[in-house]
Amino acid sequence: MTFSSSPALGQYELPDDHPGVSDAAYRSRRAAIAETGAAHRSGDPIPDVEYTREEDDVWHVVSRELAAKHQRYACRAYLSGAGDLHLPSERVPQLREVDERVHALSGFHIEPVPGLVPTMVFYGALARRTFLSTQYIRHHSVPFYTPEPDVVHEIIGHANMLANPLLADLYEAAGHASLRASAQGDEALQAFSKVFWFTLEFGVLHEDGELKAYGAGLLSSYGEIDVFRAAEVRPWDLDQMATLDYDITQYQPVLFAAESFDRMVEDLGAYFASVGR
Ligand SMILES: [Fe+2]
Repeated sequence: MTFSSSPALGQYELPDDHPGVSDAAYRSRRAAIAETGAAHRSGDPIPDVEYTREEDDVWHVVSRELAAKHQRYACRAYLSGAGDLHLPSERVPQLREVDERVHALSGFHIEPVPGLVPTMVFYGALARRTFLSTQYIRHHSVPFYTPEPDVVHEIIGHANMLANPLLADLYEAAGHASLRASAQGDEALQAFSKVFWFTLEFGVLHEDGELKAYGAGLLSSYGEIDVFRAAEVRPWDLDQMATLDYDITQYQPVLFAAESFDRMVEDLGAYFASVGR
């Protein structure tokens, strides 16, 4: 997810409202894991993180609960991608193994980063079929909440999507679109970012007479996945998406629904191809 970062904070400092901010052991652990990502160079083998029992337990609880909700709320393409990827539920998967499995399925790579990276670094990597992922996990006191993208969001939300070749192609197209938008200026990049938010992060679609989620933000949120159908659901409208402001700190009050999965892939692909041309 492209959460915004606070420039006032040092690289591994946490904002005051982070659940781990007053837990010195968590802060140093999170920093140590982030250092692993910082030391990684693209193309090198991805170093494993020795996750603790407590961290594995957080993953186990969250992934088990989310998987149950996905049966009800996730679109079929997500479920088939997750089924093909077949990640462990009892421990945090290593990015090395996630990368190997995703790459075998769709040709996409997953690479570690220490935390939030500049917007264009994140989007630009997509153009070379690479998704930049954090490796640390949320604070154990609130396993169903995170104010920042953690390994749960990246893997359960995004990697399961990237296992589907059609969706992987969309992510790559988004990367190319971001580069052209960036070359046009801030306004074009803002418009692109908003469409990315309302689709690949918080998109929904009609399937089998029900509203299903395909956005990684919804699919990785234990709370929001239960209530997204109560949002104001508007018909697919790229112009509206490109101009509507959003607030990352609350459940999304407005969502845009595609008529079907195929229609979403077609329309979003055409939009990404048209950006900056
Ligand atoms: Fe995300």
